[in-house]
Amino acid sequence: MKSDGIAVIPVVTIDGPSGAGKGTVASLVADAKGWHLLDSGALYRIIAVAGLAKGIDLADEASLVALSEQLDIVFADGKVTVDGADLTDGIRTEEAGNSASQVAALPPVRGAILTLQQSFRKAPGLVADGRDMGTVVFPDAPVKVFLDASAEARAERRYNQLKNKGLGVNLRALLEQIQERDARDRNRAVAPLKPAEDALIIDSTHMSIDEVVATVMAQLSIT
Ligand code: C5P
Repeated sequence: MKSDGIAVIPVVTIDGPSGAGKGTVASLVADAKGWHLLDSGALYRIIAVAGLAKGIDLADEASLVALSEQLDIVFADGKVTVDGADLTDGIRTEEAGNSASQVAALPPVRGAILTLQQSFRKAPGLVADGRDMGTVVFPDAPVKVFLDASAEARAERRYNQLKNKGLGVNLRALLEQIQERDARDRNRAVAPLKPAEDALIIDSTHMSIDEVVATVMAQLSIT
């Protein structure tokens, strides 16, 4: 509660490198609490995929900002629709992830979707996952988590996910892509991937998803 008696809508932020399990954990915590969910990475993926489809160069800041302000993005029933087209699977490829990390390194693009991200904060609460949820987008969140895991463990999880979908993948190539994306996300000038000072750091290398969810829920119950 704020001192004036107005209830502040609670937010749990879950930041961390790609493949640490943030999306799965965020969605399970949101379901358990009956709260809203913000998959901020999906927004960068959408801008990158929609930009490429329109022939925009991924370094062309002005065109990407204009595009991000025009896109009609709807998240509903587990699907992502952009300007009426179903992009649910189209934004989930490794290429889309890498392209997203290129557009996400451009400060004007980050600025252009800041308010959109904050607008997901609706009663009764929000679980937000990404890279800068606790540091930039929701710095006042009462519960902040930084979910990490070794690059090898993350590559192996991704390898198994893709294999289960029947897709041919190469573990070494996946590891290299993950390391390249990590380096870009950690070293960029604006909103680099790093834990908020008040974040609980969870290393999930040797933990199951259920154990991570239980740790986050326990943190929520004491705040
Ligand atoms: O989380 P996901 O893998 O979908 O994110 C794709 C890319 O979007 C990340 O590699 C990162 O560069 C960028 N991103 C970001 N800030 C966020 C979420 C994602 O820079 N809050």
